[in-house]
Amino acid sequence: MLEELERYARQNYIPVLLNETKNLLIEKIKEVNPKTILEIGTAVGYSGTVMLKYSNAILTTIELEEQNIAIAKQTFESNNVIDRVNQIQGDAKEVIKNLNQKFDFIFLDGPKGQYINYLPYLKKLLNDGGTLFADNVLYKGMVESAEFIPHKKRTIVVNLRKYINAICNDFELESKIYHIGDGVAISKKIKLKE
Ligand SMILES: C[S@@+](CC[C@H](N)C(=O)[O-])C[C@H]1O[C@@H](n2cnc3c(N)ncnc32)[C@H](O)[C@@H]1O
Repeated sequence: MLEELERYARQNYIPVLLNETKNLLIEKIKEVNPKTILEIGTAVGYSGTVMLKYSNAILTTIELEEQNIAIAKQTFESNNVIDRVNQIQGDAKEVIKNLNQKFDFIFLDGPKGQYINYLPYLKKLLNDGGTLFADNVLYKGMVESAEFIPHKKRTIVVNLRKYINAICNDFELESKIYHIGDGVAISKKIKLKE
């Protein structure tokens, strides 16, 4: 069923997890074994279903586009995971300010230019020892490239560079960048001594 959904998403130009990224996501989900997951960017429910298939977690997932939310609901239903999903429609920037629970695992896969703005809120939403998994952080190789960045992509690239810089220099986070897929950053929130 997931393969069919992946085909549908690719045929309809809906960006979903690349294979390598999916494998790393599964590895981390198995390792962390989260009870609660927050996802920014549901799309059609592909990555959400993958995370639920490999854990017993409850997933809260945020998506802006109503059409995607309806398709994602069908995905969660047909994969028998709907009872572990809380779908929220809205702009993640506003939604994350108002969430009143904490999460063991956050999958950040929404608008790339916003990651740096989301970071302070996501840190607050992450439990101590929790994992923040951010996709597309190297954005087609442009983030680490010394070459000229086309004007249309510049804000995203500059903001992703700020994001990487912020997570790598934050004493509350232990971060690692993976050169797979479109680039993944995994940050673990360190438990600070009282
Ligand atoms: C890369 S796709 C997510 C793919 C999905 N996680 C997967 O792998 O199956 C990014 C999604 O973020 C949604 N999105 C874009 N801007 C958003 C915003 N401001 N708030 C919430 N969702 C947003 C898009 O509509 C799109 O569905």
